[in-house]
Amino acid sequence: MIQENPYSLSGKTILVTGGAGGIGSETARVCAGLGASIILTDIREEALAMSLQSLPSPQGSVPHAMICADLTNAADLERLVDSLPVLDGFVCNAGVMKLVLTQFISEEELTRIQNINLNAPILLTRLLLKKKKFSKKASIVFTSSAAGVYRVSVGNAIYATTKCGIDAFMRTVALEFGPKGIRCNSVNPGMVETPLISGFTDEQKEKEKMNYPLRRFAQPADIALGIAYLLSDASSFVTGTALKIDGGMTLS
Ligand SMILES: NC(=O)c1ccc[n+]([C@@H]2O[C@H](COP(=O)([O-])OP(=O)(O)OC[C@H]3O[C@@H](n4cnc5c(N)ncnc54)[C@H](O)[C@@H]3O)[C@@H](O)[C@H]2O)c1
Repeated sequence: MIQENPYSLSGKTILVTGGAGGIGSETARVCAGLGASIILTDIREEALAMSLQSLPSPQGSVPHAMICADLTNAADLERLVDSLPVLDGFVCNAGVMKLVLTQFISEEELTRIQNINLNAPILLTRLLLKKKKFSKKASIVFTSSAAGVYRVSVGNAIYATTKCGIDAFMRTVALEFGPKGIRCNSVNPGMVETPLISGFTDEQKEKEKMNYPLRRFAQPADIALGIAYLLSDASSFVTGTALKIDGGMTLS
């Protein structure tokens, strides 16, 4: 039997990483609007507090909360996970991007970006599983990318390989935890209007938009709504899926 509104997140508690801005804070707003209680985490405390303030009230009795943490710091990860209640949803979204041609990649930058985009999501997911922080029927959503998974571009080797890694990890978790009822999926956006793409000039952006049949980049809400679907019971038979949200960019 289909419940009244399978897209409702009422009564669900959801952790969002990278919740201080961009896709993360918009996802928190959308999910709170659908009734969820949100726990926001990010490394930027002030922006995190502003993001928390912008959330509509949850429908359940659990208030929204924020926990400031550097996801690349092992002690912060432990502290974060220890202070969490049992989760119905986990949006693993924090990430960074830097364009650099392959011959100029430094080991330091490689390690820094891999730590944030790939190692932290793996280590955090592992810790949440180990410390039994997922409810029965929990849903995990990674913010991956179209980059690497569906399209490669010059200068994007580090970022693209971390996102390919995330998709492989997502499918593995889906396989391992499906029998427990835990689902795991990713969203794979094309370019989204957030600070992450501030390194591109206006001219570069306008040129790039011509690769998008819809002739625009995504707004954070375009991605947040896809994430909300994957967190909701409307997607209860969807696991191991990489959901492209790219305005048709990867069609040609
Ligand atoms: N914007 C795009 O075009 C685009 C496209 C595809 C995928 N994505 C992915 O979406 C996700 C969100 O990015 P966004 O576009 O909203 O960018 P954003 O820069 O607005 O958000 C990223 C957030 O991650 C946080 N963060 C970075 N390092 C951290 C750390 N060590 N510990 C804790 N938090 C940390 C930042 O403080 C920031 O709030 C990223 O994983 C990114 O790779 C973005």
